[in-house]
Amino acid sequence: MSKLKSSANYLYRRRRQLYDQIIRVNHSGELAADRIYWGQFVVLANDDKHSPVIQEMWSQEKHHLQEFEKLSLKYRCRKSALQHIWSATAFTLGAVTAAIGPKAAMACTVAVEDVICQHYDNQLRQLINDNIDTNKHLIDTIKEFRDDEQHHFDTGIEFGAKDSIAFNVLYNVISNGCRVAIKIAEKI
Ligand SMILES: [Fe+2]
Ligand SMILES: [Fe+2]
Repeated sequence: MSKLKSSANYLYRRRRQLYDQIIRVNHSGELAADRIYWGQFVVLANDDKHSPVIQEMWSQEKHHLQEFEKLSLKYRCRKSALQHIWSATAFTLGAVTAAIGPKAAMACTVAVEDVICQHYDNQLRQLINDNIDTNKHLIDTIKEFRDDEQHHFDTGIEFGAKDSIAFNVLYNVISNGCRVAIKIAEKI
């Protein structure tokens, strides 16, 4: 095999691994986001001030999840083996923070979306460094979703996240939990 051919094969395999990892972890993340907002909505459905906001963010998460479902099929990526755990934990997180109060629900949103924005920015850097043209579709998708997540973060702040009881504790526990979950879902 020529040197050129073997280096093209190496790049192809490396890109496949990158796509597999990115799509698996993002599918899990969007699944978890869908379940968090579902949990929050169930508890705050009769809260006229917060339920429409939560519902709007939830509908965007459903769209994100559908897109990563499609990408999983398109690139035949293995989904996380821990999907049921992400799903149940995220629903509980949404419901429990909402039960503490709407501002605690918003603190949960701020913590989660902050980590997700940083996570998507890291992936964008990786994909751009690899090949901006070949990876255009995935780059455009992640950029669009990153902007949605930034909007969710801003909404959480606007609706009083920082006035929540024990904001710093909620923020630190939830954001550190998200970082650990991301590391696991990239691999398993
Ligand atoms: Fe999302
Ligand atoms: Fe979001």
